[in-house]
Amino acid sequence: MSPTAPAAPIGVFDSGVGGLSILRALRAELPAEDFVYLADSGFAPYGERDEEFVVERALAVAQRLRNEHAIKALVIACNTATAAAVHLLREELPGLPIVGVEPALKPALALTRTGRIGVLATRATLASAKFGALHDGVRSQAEFALQACDGLADAIESHDAARIDALCSRYIRALGRTGSTPGAIDTLVLGCTHYPFAHLQLQALVGPAVRLVETGEPVARQTRRLLEAAGSLKTQGDGSASFISTGDATRLAHAVALWL
Ligand code: DGL
Repeated sequence: MSPTAPAAPIGVFDSGVGGLSILRALRAELPAEDFVYLADSGFAPYGERDEEFVVERALAVAQRLRNEHAIKALVIACNTATAAAVHLLREELPGLPIVGVEPALKPALALTRTGRIGVLATRATLASAKFGALHDGVRSQAEFALQACDGLADAIESHDAARIDALCSRYIRALGRTGSTPGAIDTLVLGCTHYPFAHLQLQALVGPAVRLVETGEPVARQTRRLLEAAGSLKTQGDGSASFISTGDATRLAHAVALWL
C-alpha cells in the first residue's frame, strides 16, 4: 500500500502507555482511521534521560513505524520526545506529516483568571530548548510555576497506586496554593501524556476550582488538518488500532483495556 493512501495507518508512539491519552482523542476525532501504537516501554521512562538518548529512541521508533507499517502520518504522543526530536524527525522523514505535542501553555493562558498557572512535566521537557522558547513567548502574560515530576510517569506505567498518590501530592504541594482566590494557581497544565491517567488524584489534590489542561483534542484536530491537506484522510469504514511494545506487552494490553 502506498504510504500516502487513505487506507494506510497512522503511527503513534510514546515512551510507554502515556500516549494512550492522545490515542483516545485521535480515535474520537478520526473514527475511520487505522492506528498503530508503539509503546517504547523497553526504554522508558524518557523524561529523566539525556536528550541524545531520547533523540536516538525517537528516530529508531519512527523509522520502524514507517518501514514496517508504511504509516501515512506520525503522531509523537510524548512531550519529551517532541521537545527533543520533532525537528530531526521532520528532517529524517521528509514528506511524512508529523504532529508533536507540547505542554498547553497557550490554552492555559486563555483559561486562567488568577494569572497563575502550574505546569507539570518531565525534567527533560522542562530543560529543553523547545520548552524554553515556548515559555519565553508567554511568561510576560502570566506567572508559570514549573514542576518536574520525577518518577510519576514510571509510577503510572507500573500502575503503582500508592506511588502515584505520594508523588502527586508531593508535586502539587511544591506548586503552592491552588484554587480560585487571588494569587492561587487556578489552571494546571498536564505537560506529559502519562499524567491524564492520574487526573482523578490530581484533581482531588488541587480542588474542584482548578482546571486541568491536556493536549489530546488539539493534537487530534491538528492531525485531521494535516491529513486533509495531504489528501490522505480516511472517512469511510470502521477504524482499528493495533499495539506494539518494546517492553512488557501484557502491561500495555492491561493499560489499553483499562483506558481505551
Ligand atoms: N509521556 C511522556 C511525555 O509526554 C514521557 C514520560 C517519560 O517517559 O518520562 O513526556
